[in-house]
Amino acid sequence: MSADTWWKNGIVYQIYPRSFQDSNGDGIGDLDGIRARLDYLVSLGIDAVWISPIYPSPMADFGYDISDFCDIDPRFGTLDGFDALVGDAHSRGLRVILDFVPNHTSDRHPWFVQSRSARSDRRRNWYLWRDPAPDGGPPNNWVSNFGGPAWTLDPSTGQYYGHSFLKEQPDLNWRNPEVRAAMYEVLRFWLRRGVDGFRVDVLSQIIKDAQFRDNPPNPDFVEGQDPFHRWLMLYNTDLPEVQQIVAEMRRVVDAFSDTHSSRVLIGELYLPFARLVAYYGLNAQGALEGVQLPFNFQLIATEWQAARIDRLVRDYEAALPPGAAPNWVLGNHDKPRIASRVGQQMARIAAMLLLTLRGTPTLYYGDEIGMTDVPIPADEVQDPFEKNKPGMGLGRDPERTPMQWSAAASAGFTTGTPWLRLAADWRTHNVEAQSHDEAGSMLALYRHLIALRRAQPALNRGSYEALAAEDEVLAYARNGEGQRLVVLLNFGAASAPMSPALLPRQPIVLASTDPARAEFIKGPLVLAPYEGVVIGAVVDKAATMR
Ligand code: NOJ
Repeated sequence: MSADTWWKNGIVYQIYPRSFQDSNGDGIGDLDGIRARLDYLVSLGIDAVWISPIYPSPMADFGYDISDFCDIDPRFGTLDGFDALVGDAHSRGLRVILDFVPNHTSDRHPWFVQSRSARSDRRRNWYLWRDPAPDGGPPNNWVSNFGGPAWTLDPSTGQYYGHSFLKEQPDLNWRNPEVRAAMYEVLRFWLRRGVDGFRVDVLSQIIKDAQFRDNPPNPDFVEGQDPFHRWLMLYNTDLPEVQQIVAEMRRVVDAFSDTHSSRVLIGELYLPFARLVAYYGLNAQGALEGVQLPFNFQLIATEWQAARIDRLVRDYEAALPPGAAPNWVLGNHDKPRIASRVGQQMARIAAMLLLTLRGTPTLYYGDEIGMTDVPIPADEVQDPFEKNKPGMGLGRDPERTPMQWSAAASAGFTTGTPWLRLAADWRTHNVEAQSHDEAGSMLALYRHLIALRRAQPALNRGSYEALAAEDEVLAYARNGEGQRLVVLLNFGAASAPMSPALLPRQPIVLASTDPARAEFIKGPLVLAPYEGVVIGAVVDKAATMR
């Protein structure tokens, strides 16, 4: 794999560091823990880890409230430990991607402490300060993602500051060139330490309307929904000016790329395709100067149905600008887990889909063993989203529970008390148990599909061709380097006979979600209920074994 395209052909694995592996018994995962699990990640076959924030933080939003962008929180380790992790990862051929959180800081960040100290402070304009409305209330109707107004009054200076999330997460003023310069220095700090790129938090929201106009009401809002959706975010998300900042970030990162190591930007963007693809930054000369991978979250939101997903993939393929690298995501630390959304059986189809579509797949830790959302009793809730809007199903603790490594105490995650409870079934549902079930486990399926994707050029860089099939079967081919692989995913509860016209001559099953499926197809191919297969021609088998 050539260095400059690793993020196009590779597989990204997201680690939520609090929950991956604890090394010191405090019940919270840490960098040395991740380091100790690198061989597992290598055995899985992934190419890059993205680690959610590890910087000093009061943990109001579990690390997404950062009080120092250029250090490591002692709960996670030290800068020396971080360097050691990067060194060990690189020596194993793994890339390291950090989370970059440009929209806001912690309210304890020295920049904000200064900014709020006086209206005349030199850092006042680093944040969004506004006078109260004539009635003394917030300056406009913007609301926080986590509930309540996006404005908090600072009594000592008599102005409100803006925050898209918690009041402990004041928004930076990206219209201020000093802020931009300081934040680009943060990128350089980590790039110099050798990181391979950044996942950029809430990228579309970082710049707001210069006049701070009220957002219009959302005509589709239904009472009982999260009140956040009462307004359309016309004036505080996805403004045209954000593209200039994206291009600037890209230039900062590109300055550290060379033929041996290309650095990547991945944007966190919950946007429909038409708006999402703008973040590739296609310029008038046809070059792409935006983020290389604007996260495509559509598989998280879509109805889990063959025709829907067929449409979705076609729409995405059609929307991509020339030369853009596609990507797909099944889950992350903010959304219910795939196995809980669609069930264990369907999660196997989802794994096959993710790992056979055209585009960089991102895996969320634990999904490879089919971890499910863990119900968290009210008195154990950690997530501020749940605390602020209880009972709406918005809390994110259920998908953040500790990784289930083995049947040892606390699933091998910690020798102490885990910060968040484990799934009830951890004694049987864990990496070690699934490693022994070499044919049938979710882990075995993931390992096999990842190995297949790496071995088969048609899968990791071939084109996508939608095929017509039965109602409940999603069918497509991946074509490349003289190879054609056919993927057939049966979303239905009934067996599905496949037309021989879909299959190559001398077909062979390169992968199936059904451990009972034989390699050679005798007679017509009939998919079992909820079965997915990757079909190649006999010659492709040889490629896989090389
Ligand atoms: C998106 C992150 O993924 C989420 O976990 C966090 O709470 C918000 N951004 C605020 O940083």
